[in-house]
Amino acid sequence: MADQKEELLAAAKRAREKAYAPYSTFPVGAAVLGSDGRIFSGCNVENASLGLTCCAERNAIFAMVAAGETEIREILVIGETEEFLPPCGACRQVIAEFAPPSTVVHMCNRAGDCRDVPVSELIPFIFHLKKNMAEPRPSR
Ligand code: THU
Repeated sequence: MADQKEELLAAAKRAREKAYAPYSTFPVGAAVLGSDGRIFSGCNVENASLGLTCCAERNAIFAMVAAGETEIREILVIGETEEFLPPCGACRQVIAEFAPPSTVVHMCNRAGDCRDVPVSELIPFIFHLKKNMAEPRPSR
């Protein structure tokens, strides 16, 4: 798996170079390894209407889903930070949609050093719509 981590790191760094972050000046890159072995990457894309910004992790995951893969085997995120960069809360929920709880999330710093944590540690109480729906809605 070490080789794939290096591939993920390289892909995330390449994506980070494409970050569109004129408002925050905070470029982020992410890469996901799908269960079929393909790697997808994404960068953060900001907008003048700031709330429309989409994080690097979600852009990488959405590219994966659009390519027909719906299971994450590993995910890596890198900023230009001193500290390991943790995914935001919204991205954690999106990661959890496609990653089993044991899936490793590599949170990396500018030097490319990473802290690895399982999804279950990042987001212990995951909202799952189907599990949380009490009764099926009556059909009309
Ligand atoms: N950002 C990401 O892309 N991923 C993260 O995990 C944290 C935050 C982006 C969103 C925004 O473009 C900028 O970083 C500052 O919040």
